Amino acid sequence: MSNFAFTTVHKVLCGEGTLAQINDELNSLSVTRPLIVTDQGIVSAGLLDQLYAAVNLDVEVFADVVADPPEEIVLRAAAVAETHQADGIIGFGGGSSLDTAKVIARLACQQQPENQQSLQDMYGVDCVKGQRLPLVLIPTTAGTGSEATPVAVITTGETTKAGVVSSTLLPDVAILDATLTAGLPKHVTAATGIDAMVHAIEAITSKIKRNPYSDMLAIQALGLLSRNIETACNEPDNLTARQDMLLGAFIAGQAFANAPVAGVHALAYPLGGHFHIPHGLSNALVLPHVLKFNASAAHADYQRIAEVVGITCGQAQAGIALAEYFYTLSGKLSLPQTLEQCGVTEKDIDILASDAMLQTRLLVNNPRDIALDDAKTIYTQALRGEAV
Ligand SMILES: [Fe+2]
Repeated sequence: MSNFAFTTVHKVLCGEGTLAQINDELNSLSVTRPLIVTDQGIVSAGLLDQLYAAVNLDVEVFADVVADPPEEIVLRAAAVAETHQADGIIGFGGGSSLDTAKVIARLACQQQPENQQSLQDMYGVDCVKGQRLPLVLIPTTAGTGSEATPVAVITTGETTKAGVVSSTLLPDVAILDATLTAGLPKHVTAATGIDAMVHAIEAITSKIKRNPYSDMLAIQALGLLSRNIETACNEPDNLTARQDMLLGAFIAGQAFANAPVAGVHALAYPLGGHFHIPHGLSNALVLPHVLKFNASAAHADYQRIAEVVGITCGQAQAGIALAEYFYTLSGKLSLPQTLEQCGVTEKDIDILASDAMLQTRLLVNNPRDIALDDAKTIYTQALRGEAV
């Protein structure tokens, strides 16, 4: 076994109704003037009211986070935090709200000279210096695992993104309360759930940083997610399934925070950039084809993964069996199964493949090298679901 490091969230509260404990957590962090960072969907779904009711402090709200948050939104939220003299940040929502909250907790903590740092200087791995404000993250989807990762992805241009990667962004407390996810539409539950499953799979096969902790967590996560995703989609009010999905996504987040994701995410990102296909769905669309491509380099791991999701097969068949499993799962959950269904055509493949090649940070973690022609082949197969 190689030497390894493992970092994770300080504290997690998991269970139906745990949102009610937030006031105690804020008190113990000495927070008196928190800023809630969220989006309009959360406001209109009535979830913000539930959080309001649970926090008995001088609260300000920034509810203008959008998907793939641009720098301008992040800086605006930081200004609101400063005006409010916020002494703590609560991220509440999907991955974009949590990512924004993580960066605000650091950006809004600039009073001391040693803490002064611009957002520009924070991009990259371990570039964040200084301290952040107390940070509580509360996911309302079971997918991104953002509440468990040291990463925030910010949109810096038309289709370009930059990541802030630092253990400073790990929250003091993550609250996993399934009652907040009960109203999620089926297609969101399905796509975000598959995203979480991909986090677990890619952590298990992560080439460089996988370790016994990340393996253990990813296997546990995959079991929870695979056993509950269909129930959570078909019985939206089944809080037992919802809670297991939320926990599965969190644990998968802990795993891939330490054993990073790879080829599936590398090929999924350009679909988001060019076609605005949601992140989870982008992953679901390319997943079967990357699994088939990787199979020769990941026989043993794929057999173990197959076993966890309920497939008994030999090592040589595991890649194909998993590709079929996930392709069929997308169909069962009423998700599109091909890129063609999402508006992608043959002529788009070259630009998608060349953009995927730019994801070097992710590609290095893939069990098998993906070259430009390989990416074109994978996208071509994903176009019509060929050969699954
Ligand atoms: Fe993801």
